Amino acid sequence: MAEQIVIPTVTGRRGRYAALYPQVAALLASEEDAIAAMANLCAAIHQVFGWHWVGFYRVVGDQLVLGPFQGPVACTPIAYGKGVCGTAWQEDRTINVPDVDAFPGHIACSNLSRSEIVVPLHGHGGRVAAVLDVDSASLDDFGPEDEQELARLCRLIEPLLP
Ligand code: SME
Repeated sequence: MAEQIVIPTVTGRRGRYAALYPQVAALLASEEDAIAAMANLCAAIHQVFGWHWVGFYRVVGDQLVLGPFQGPVACTPIAYGKGVCGTAWQEDRTINVPDVDAFPGHIACSNLSRSEIVVPLHGHGGRVAAVLDVDSASLDDFGPEDEQELARLCRLIEPLLP
């Protein structure tokens, strides 16, 4: 069955999240595979907001390994505690970086990225099993609404994670 995400063109960021969430929830309701769910979620986020890079890294052993993404080719693997992604994993919290050049240890996969937000996803037992990484070509592009809404979207995938 063909699937599509439809977002009204005149809506702002709040309206886009509001339109996106139920559509993604419906799209993923019957999904049983974590990789497929990550692939469709990052494609939907990328389509709706147009950010430079949207994708997942999965925890594999003691590293983050690149998962489904939309955007330019990216660095992999990333060690525990390294970069924004490895720090979000280590500290088990969302990290919002308004200026990537001001984040010590930021891993520059693309020199077009100016700001970044990384959201941890939890698997069985509550451990961090993956992170969502969103990079913007604009400085200071992410706020509390993005932190909340991206985390809410990620929770749709958490039951599928190991
Ligand atoms: N900038 C990230 C690395 C991943 S890329 O941005 C896709 C970091 O510092 O963890």
